[in-house]
Amino acid sequence: KATFTLADGATLDDLVIRDTNEVSLRVMNDHELYKLEMERIFAKTWLLLGHDTEIPKAGDFIVRDMGEDQVIVTRDRNNEIHVNLNVCPHRGMKVCTAETGNAQAHRCIYHGWAFRPDGSFIGAPVEKEKMHGNQREKSELGLKKARVRLYGGLIFATWNINGPSFDDFLGDMKFYLDQLFCRTDSGLEMLGPPQRFVLPCNWKIPGEQSGSDGFHTLTLHRSLMEGGIMGGTAESIYDNAPGMYGVDVSVPQGHSLRCLEAAQTFKMFADVSFEGKTTEERLNLLPPPGVTKDLIPQLFKNLSKEQVEQLATIPPQVGGMFPNILLAFIFAPRTDGGSSGALALHTYVPKGPDKVEFVNFIFAEKDAPEQVKRDMLQNAIQQTGTSGIIEQDDADTWPQIMRNSRGAISKTMTLKYQALHGHERPDNWYGEGLLYPGFTKDDTQWNWWLAYYDLMAEA
Ligand code: FES
Ligand code: FE
Repeated sequence: KATFTLADGATLDDLVIRDTNEVSLRVMNDHELYKLEMERIFAKTWLLLGHDTEIPKAGDFIVRDMGEDQVIVTRDRNNEIHVNLNVCPHRGMKVCTAETGNAQAHRCIYHGWAFRPDGSFIGAPVEKEKMHGNQREKSELGLKKARVRLYGGLIFATWNINGPSFDDFLGDMKFYLDQLFCRTDSGLEMLGPPQRFVLPCNWKIPGEQSGSDGFHTLTLHRSLMEGGIMGGTAESIYDNAPGMYGVDVSVPQGHSLRCLEAAQTFKMFADVSFEGKTTEERLNLLPPPGVTKDLIPQLFKNLSKEQVEQLATIPPQVGGMFPNILLAFIFAPRTDGGSSGALALHTYVPKGPDKVEFVNFIFAEKDAPEQVKRDMLQNAIQQTGTSGIIEQDDADTWPQIMRNSRGAISKTMTLKYQALHGHERPDNWYGEGLLYPGFTKDDTQWNWWLAYYDLMAEA
């Protein structure tokens, strides 16, 4: 494996210090490192771009980013989804200047070269004069295409045409992620376009937090629990702490999830017990967010017995996928029987070493009643939205860490990941992966950095 040396002599081992489980704060503000990250991570790994329900009709398109590379995500007449680089092969202009729409052809505004939704070249104006020249065939003049994979309707793409398969990228995480994305007959529906805003910080600050930092919840998000803002009734933060215990799951690919006991989560809101109850009874008592009671039989149809059992008992609630995805499937039942839960995914899209675009994708089960979808949309905006009660705490913190990465002295500080539990398989556990029972520690986030190290060390 080839690594790298930065202009001042620093190597990858000086930045991600594996002997002591530390990371140099300077990684958050290094222009050279950022360029390498675009090449070695964002041009190599699978990235989330959106959901197929955003482009339901032939010709529908959305424009998204894979790192700093912009792409057009389209649906063609054969219902196939394509991801094409939004760079005109003629002279480098953006081919599509809209953010979303429907078009059977994308025509570059500079000299008029036109492309089909599948990226193939249609022609140039004054075609009979052979405006695309004699040296190239039409088949060579299409848009550059990424490799695409749909998972539960989520659109993933990579430039690594011969690299790891999507299944290898998910690894042992699939057992858990299926419980969130592939559990009902019609699957998830994205509610409206994503919310977006740009924050002055490096993508790795929210990125590593998404490696399942549960520790910050008790302090940074303390006011949510103290005030009972998400429907709780507990008087003090300490009463809520048991709801934070569970099993953290992680894989060497850098993805992780926090699986929290449903009964403990529910105790924050009402005094009920799961004891002696069947899986079905437990699901009826506390259905996953967005799953109405009449959708419960579909869970048994689409998931294995073990997956449903976990979803009913100790569901994955929050976590992330490497490199830049946060998952928030928040259980927050209301004492009136309703749910203020939310299903949201964020991507943290790099926009330079010191800027990140925060993109909030909001979901509900497609077969849920309209009222439930409206509630889910409202909950997700209020909680995980760009000005949501949860996210504004985080969005206030990240730029302050960023600021500290710039000082001559501050940047020599290290981030510490030394509170390691070590993996340990709990009793009655069905899934695979690296398992860390108890209260959240640094293990999963350290695994995130190890995945970062692995990719950055590859030339
Ligand atoms: Fe697009 Fe010339 S740059 S047609
Ligand atoms: Fe947070």
